[in-house]
Amino acid sequence: MIDRRTFITASGLAAIGAALPGTPLWAAQALQQRAIPASGEMLPVIGMGTSGSFEVTPGSPEQQALRDVLRRFFAAGASVIDTSPNYSNAEDVLGDLLAGQDLRAKTFLATKLAADNRAAGEAQFAQSLRRLRTERIDLLQVHNLRDWRTQLTLARELKAQGKVRYIGVTHFLDTAHDALADVVAEQKPDFLQINYSVASTNAEKRVLPMARDLGVAVIVNRAFEDGKLFAQVAGRALPAWAADVGVSSWAQMFLKFALSHPAVTVVIPATGKPHRQSDNLLAGYGATLNEAQRNELKAMFG
Ligand SMILES: NC(=O)c1ccc[n+]([C@@H]2O[C@H](COP(=O)([O-])OP(=O)(O)OC[C@H]3O[C@@H](n4cnc5c(N)ncnc54)[C@H](OP(=O)(O)O)[C@@H]3O)[C@@H](O)[C@H]2O)c1
Repeated sequence: MIDRRTFITASGLAAIGAALPGTPLWAAQALQQRAIPASGEMLPVIGMGTSGSFEVTPGSPEQQALRDVLRRFFAAGASVIDTSPNYSNAEDVLGDLLAGQDLRAKTFLATKLAADNRAAGEAQFAQSLRRLRTERIDLLQVHNLRDWRTQLTLARELKAQGKVRYIGVTHFLDTAHDALADVVAEQKPDFLQINYSVASTNAEKRVLPMARDLGVAVIVNRAFEDGKLFAQVAGRALPAWAADVGVSSWAQMFLKFALSHPAVTVVIPATGKPHRQSDNLLAGYGATLNEAQRNELKAMFG
């Protein structure tokens, strides 16, 4: 007998191309979810970014491949997609693909305010709604703390008006972590987004413990250091214990590292390649890494 939940998740894994011969038994379970502290709403731990990967020409083979990237993503039960008005045409490409496949309702859609004054922020938000073909944004983040006091006030007002569900702040540089932590302590947004990887662990010092203490959800960007980590592991075998935690690729290892910090809610790797999307999604199943395994990775890449 196969129960309904097992059947659904096994179907989902088949759809992402994961239920192949040799797929370990631990994979026959649901993509893991974690709660947004502010609301208790559950989010699948693997999301996706759109920087680079969605900045493609409409009608190009790259844009066609993104249909499959999204199909695999939603088939696995994932939902969090992060974009920004300053990723050239990424919002347009994403908006068209979501609308064309009727996927908006399944998406936890995150975008940003990247503006220098109130009027520019308002205009940019209106443009994001148009480009993303939606009436509401799930998470509106102040990009890289730019003009943060004015933009966070605007984001709060949009939330009060029901045009935004959650608000947040982002950065991607270690040198900005203290400034980000100060803003989070003062403003207590629903989310923060930060860089965190096997090679960049500075967020562990202040930002991640603070997020945990204050109940702020954490989105991790750059878990692959924008792809640079793959050059470092070319030809290098995975640690001997990889199979014990259900890991069969370095991509899964890097994502599981980010997810194994207790403050982290979602990690958002970016890819325009369907087979890599399936690879990345597999990090959302099975065991997490323990402290010894985390330390071994940090020593390897630090
Ligand atoms: N300040 C901010 O708010 C901020 C800053 C940085 C990033 N972000 C967000 O975070 C997202 C992720 O960061 P990121 O895009 O900078 O970098 P990333 O996710 O660390 O790395 C992306 C790179 O990894 C490659 N890749 C993805 N999956 C792979 C796999 N399974 N195997 C091998 N290579 C793989 C991609 O190449 P292919 O596309 O060729 O597969 C791409 O070159 C962004 O897209 C964006 O949404 C936000």
